Amino acid sequence: MQAAPSTALVTGGARRIGAACVRALVRRSIRVVLHYATSASAAQALQQELAHQGGEVHLLQGDLAEPEQTRSLLEQAETLLGGQPVTLLINNAAIFERGSIRECSSRQWERHLAINLTAPFLLTREFARRLPAEMSGQIVQIIDQHADRPRPGYAAYSAAKSALWTLTRQAALELAPAIRVNAIGPGPILPAPHDSPEAFARIGAATPLGRAGHPDDIASALLFLLDNSFLTGTLIHVDGGEHLR
Ligand SMILES: NC(=O)c1ccc[n+]([C@@H]2O[C@H](COP(=O)([O-])OP(=O)(O)OC[C@H]3O[C@@H](n4cnc5c(N)ncnc54)[C@H](OP(=O)(O)O)[C@@H]3O)[C@@H](O)[C@H]2O)c1
Repeated sequence: MQAAPSTALVTGGARRIGAACVRALVRRSIRVVLHYATSASAAQALQQELAHQGGEVHLLQGDLAEPEQTRSLLEQAETLLGGQPVTLLINNAAIFERGSIRECSSRQWERHLAINLTAPFLLTREFARRLPAEMSGQIVQIIDQHADRPRPGYAAYSAAKSALWTLTRQAALELAPAIRVNAIGPGPILPAPHDSPEAFARIGAATPLGRAGHPDDIASALLFLLDNSFLTGTLIHVDGGEHLR
């Protein structure tokens, strides 16, 4: 039986889905290191909000497009936690830009792979290397309901996210039994910057459940994965059934 995680690192935790995950973890009395890149004021506001509720949230800035910065995040997180190891890693940060194969620039391709795939790999590797042998840990990758099939018009995003699903299963096999590794595949939860509210409403309406989801739907799947100690290498679609279309 695995111990419940007591410490967590959430990448891209200042806003949107990442912030919902941070709130859910703090409600579980988990000590959280909230990583952000550019959202310093949102991160500070969330830290203050949760401090009022008795929660412990530490802030850590870093650009996940820079492998040197990514590699050092877990060590920095441990320092913020007073020397305690991180026992839960949530790879949530990502970019999501349009671009079919014909349109995708080399820079766009490289940035998607760096942020959406290489950074989760480096953090997974550092997490596994740093976790003391007598401890258990968990990793949750926030992927996409499109993890196992391409999303037309998003070549770099699709390639990076489907490779992250392969990495998730690889890590689940290699890191068991000490570390459980699972994934969540969100469907339409919040609009991307390039989605108009009308276009996003249409995407939600086209799911079998006929609506978009809420960041708390992702947080609730996260808590389920934490609680069910017999799950590893699995992906939960939280998408109103969109993956069935
Ligand atoms: N929203 C949805 O409906 C949906 C659907 C399918 C899958 N997903 C997946 O769910 C996760 C969360 O979605 P979301 O919509 O909440 O994400 P988001 O707002 O697009 O991005 C989450 C965070 O990623 C961080 N980030 C971006 N580039 C970074 C970089 N170079 N270095 C470090 N951090 C960086 C940003 O941090 P800062 O703000 O601090 O810069 C951002 O707040 C993502 O993995 C996404 O692919 C979401």
